Amino acid sequence: MMNASVDDAHFSADWLARRECLDARSRSRCITGLAADWLAARPGVHRLVDLGAGSGSNLRFLAPRLPGPQRWRLVDHDGELLARARRTRQLDAHGERVAVSLERRNLAPVDDALLDDADLVVASALCDLVSRSWAEGLVDGCAARGQGLLITLTVDGDWAFLDASGERVDSDEDIAVRALVQAHQRRDKGLGPALGGQAPAVLAERLEAAGYRVTSVYSPWFVPRGERATLAVAEALVAGWYAAALEQSPPEGIWLARWHAGRRAQLAAGELGLTVGHRDLFATPGTGATA
Ligand SMILES: C[S@@+](CC[C@H](N)C(=O)[O-])C[C@H]1O[C@@H](n2cnc3c(N)ncnc32)[C@H](O)[C@@H]1O
Repeated sequence: MMNASVDDAHFSADWLARRECLDARSRSRCITGLAADWLAARPGVHRLVDLGAGSGSNLRFLAPRLPGPQRWRLVDHDGELLARARRTRQLDAHGERVAVSLERRNLAPVDDALLDDADLVVASALCDLVSRSWAEGLVDGCAARGQGLLITLTVDGDWAFLDASGERVDSDEDIAVRALVQAHQRRDKGLGPALGGQAPAVLAERLEAAGYRVTSVYSPWFVPRGERATLAVAEALVAGWYAAALEQSPPEGIWLARWHAGRRAQLAAGELGLTVGHRDLFATPGTGATA
């Protein structure tokens, strides 16, 4: 299961561990490189705050690709996930130990305690869960502090099954399920009505309005058909879509269950793969920012 309940913002450690390899291979190297160059041009210790850090996946990916010295603050409301993150011993791109502190708290409000003491604000697989007002508060808070933002693996609401030639399948039922899932993604996940697939565009727009230079790159997950290593993630995803669609429209349960069983069997048989749309974004304060 992705979540304990499809409506809350609690994620199982098992799900986050399973998706970590897919995340790592999907993330834009160009965006990571821009962040590394931006930090390298700044003197002193590089201070990062990771919002919705979970079990530390973002730290494990970024730390060895960014220059040191680095000091990270990992923020999440889930103490169990943070306890897992605590076990991470990470080196920076120069082979030096990265300093890490953990903070268990809610991401709201976006206040001084959340944002102060950071040069670069990072978040991965978070921003579809947040509301427009939370995202605006984040951008305004970062702009007021002259901070950079590296917001990765934000879903754009699109997903599809892929056939043997890598083409989208998009049956009528897939399209109907996708619409239900997209509606479900916009439910309140604890930070107000969620942006869901609108998150990448809303963030980029608000950042540009605040004077940021924004680079946004497509970073989709690709699960090729028959790939054994990622089959469990694909199956969990499809189960999550089914649960979300069912919660969104209980009267449609019969055909949704048939759809789920059919697609799951086709994934397991290696007949279909799938893709999930994400975007990675890097933003640096420009003329509009007040440092
Ligand atoms: C999809 S997970 C991503 C975790 C991690 N960034 C990664 O890439 O594996 C979203 C994370 O945001 C955290 N989260 C969601 N809503 C939150 C809130 N209101 N306050 C604090 N953390 C929150 C969850 O506990 C979870 O760890």
